[in-house]
Amino acid sequence: MQVSQHDSFEKPQIGSDLFDVPFIRPEFPRGEDVATDMNEIVQSNWFTNFGPREREFRGEVAEYVGGDSVAVTFANATLALTVALAQLTGSHARGYVIAPSFTFAAGPQAIRWVGHEPILIDIDERTLQPSLTSAREAFERFGDQIVGILYCNTFGIGGDSVAAWESMARQFGVPLIIDSAAGFGSEYSLGDKVGTRGDCEIFSFHATKPFAIGEGGAALTRDRSLAARLSAGSNFGFMDHAGASIPGTNGKLQEINAAIGIRQLQTFDIALEARRRHLQRYHDLISRNVDGYFPRNDLLSSVCFASVVLPSASVRDAVLSELHSCGVEARAYYSPPIHLQPAFTETPRVDSLGVTESVYTRILSLPVFPSLPESAFERVEEAVQRHPA
Ligand SMILES: Cc1ncc(COP(=O)(O)O)c(C=O)c1O
Repeated sequence: MQVSQHDSFEKPQIGSDLFDVPFIRPEFPRGEDVATDMNEIVQSNWFTNFGPREREFRGEVAEYVGGDSVAVTFANATLALTVALAQLTGSHARGYVIAPSFTFAAGPQAIRWVGHEPILIDIDERTLQPSLTSAREAFERFGDQIVGILYCNTFGIGGDSVAAWESMARQFGVPLIIDSAAGFGSEYSLGDKVGTRGDCEIFSFHATKPFAIGEGGAALTRDRSLAARLSAGSNFGFMDHAGASIPGTNGKLQEINAAIGIRQLQTFDIALEARRRHLQRYHDLISRNVDGYFPRNDLLSSVCFASVVLPSASVRDAVLSELHSCGVEARAYYSPPIHLQPAFTETPRVDSLGVTESVYTRILSLPVFPSLPESAFERVEEAVQRHPA
């Protein structure tokens, strides 16, 4: 049985023999090393519930991100988003949370789990990050019915205008939760790491992400009291010995995944360099051959994949099918965007989402895993040469 992975509802296959070059191939610790960790966990009789490996991993994640952030680990990013939204917006009656349509479904679904409804906004054409203009329009139209902002660092790339989003959240008195799912290892353009901004930032450590531990996630925040509530929120809302005292669920990270994370951190920067080198190769190759562009600051990111916006939907579709026929698994993220997915077609939006509509038909996502073979670049170059416009 193949292990299938998301992102979109179409799942990239790991271990698939359908393609010579799969879309994702996580760098994982050797099976023998994971077995050693598992043996130690069995010996210690401590499998989950904030054990020694989870505590060590949590400390190392915070240290890696720096900037005075503390880390709270989770079983996955979707639970981290849900708990963060519950802690930061849960005291309000049902309201609206601003979120981009150009994202993965986890965020909008988490908004619904805490009893709110997303208001979908557009993205900026050049950065592919949520549009400030669109968010301002949402505040003009929905005013104090808005109880929070779920900003998304698209593809884990640190948005240029994060400070302006923080000011907007302050101005309207709402929390700013940043979904940086793929962005562990990314930097903002001023040099601070992704994970240090907003009320909190959420990472996914899913097997498809650049920093992969199987299933896992974390919320990073500079606010110690929020960190305590997020941690309790991952543990049934148990704040102290009185039992459940705040909203909570079971979102705890297991010891074995934390142990894998500790190992992954030792080699992560080397893998990250390789991903950035591959992305640079794609930049060069695209600029030689076709009128496409990459989202701004992608080379500062953890590079979950290479995203290039091609001149037209027909070029994108032709290149995508050509790559598939020559054994390279490419994809199109985020296609379709949230407002075109059945659960969200009735969701309010502030405008026509014109940039989202145009970008999702033209975007191509290419593999960048560290061991990517040279032949992948050759095949991508041939495919774009055959369909220049
Ligand atoms: C933008 C975004 N948010 C949230 C998630 C959810 O992450 P997880 O699978 O760890 O729940 C993903 C996963 O791909 C994502 O891409």
